[in-house]
Amino acid sequence: MKVLFIGDIVGDIGLDAVEHYLPRLKRKYNVDVVIANGENAAKGRGITKSIYQELLMMGVDVITMGNHTWDQKEIFDFIDDTDYLIRPANFSEDAPGRGMTTVTKNGVTLSVINLHGRVFLPAHDDPFAKAEDLIAEAKQISPLIFVDFHAETTSEKIALGWHLAGQASAVVGTHTHVQTADARIFPGGTAFISDVGMTGPYDEVLGMKKESVIYRFKTNMPVRFEVPTEGREVLSGFFVDIDDDTGQAKHCERIYINADYPFKG
Ligand SMILES: [Fe+2]
Ligand SMILES: [Fe+2]
Repeated sequence: MKVLFIGDIVGDIGLDAVEHYLPRLKRKYNVDVVIANGENAAKGRGITKSIYQELLMMGVDVITMGNHTWDQKEIFDFIDDTDYLIRPANFSEDAPGRGMTTVTKNGVTLSVINLHGRVFLPAHDDPFAKAEDLIAEAKQISPLIFVDFHAETTSEKIALGWHLAGQASAVVGTHTHVQTADARIFPGGTAFISDVGMTGPYDEVLGMKKESVIYRFKTNMPVRFEVPTEGREVLSGFFVDIDDDTGQAKHCERIYINADYPFKG
């Protein structure tokens, strides 16, 4: 099974980048399953039902979330009714929604798990223990397991990658919006990257208008960060080819498309 993961989609420019490049990426990599992090899809803050549906229409199979999961209050009205929108599994037991789902293509089933880090982010339940529990559950269904670990620090993400080496098919980091250059396959066949990076405005600061971010850093004054609606785009992704029988990753590579690194077919 060939899986494409798209890093944090930020606002309309991010959605446009998916629309522009996803069909070409699907052709180039012969993609079976597309997973995307959608925690910033609604103008940088959370996701709405219409954006969720728009992403499915564009060919995304599963959407994962993160610390911005609850930013759009309407998510409380639909998350329990969706099959392919998951939020971090180590949120409170009382949180609506769920942290794992499955998708089946051509007779092969992949489980997708979303987890949330605990360093420099609100404390949630232990993601390492939660990962073990969910992987044991997922293995009852299929050996193909994909983990999106939404976390701030490279160390926490690399630690989870090693913790799950040989257990998951892939562990990818999201949240920092900056792609790391450490794509690799851990012993036991676990593809890994510390952070997939961001899909959205290319000429801003992590997708937020740079003027307001610079102002905040200079003055420490409160200012509302906004996502631009016009400008150049970047798509950051990660491709993994997984063995259908063993669930081990055979190949992985970073995808980074923008004005400086144009798409190559
Ligand atoms: Fe994000
Ligand atoms: Fe985040």
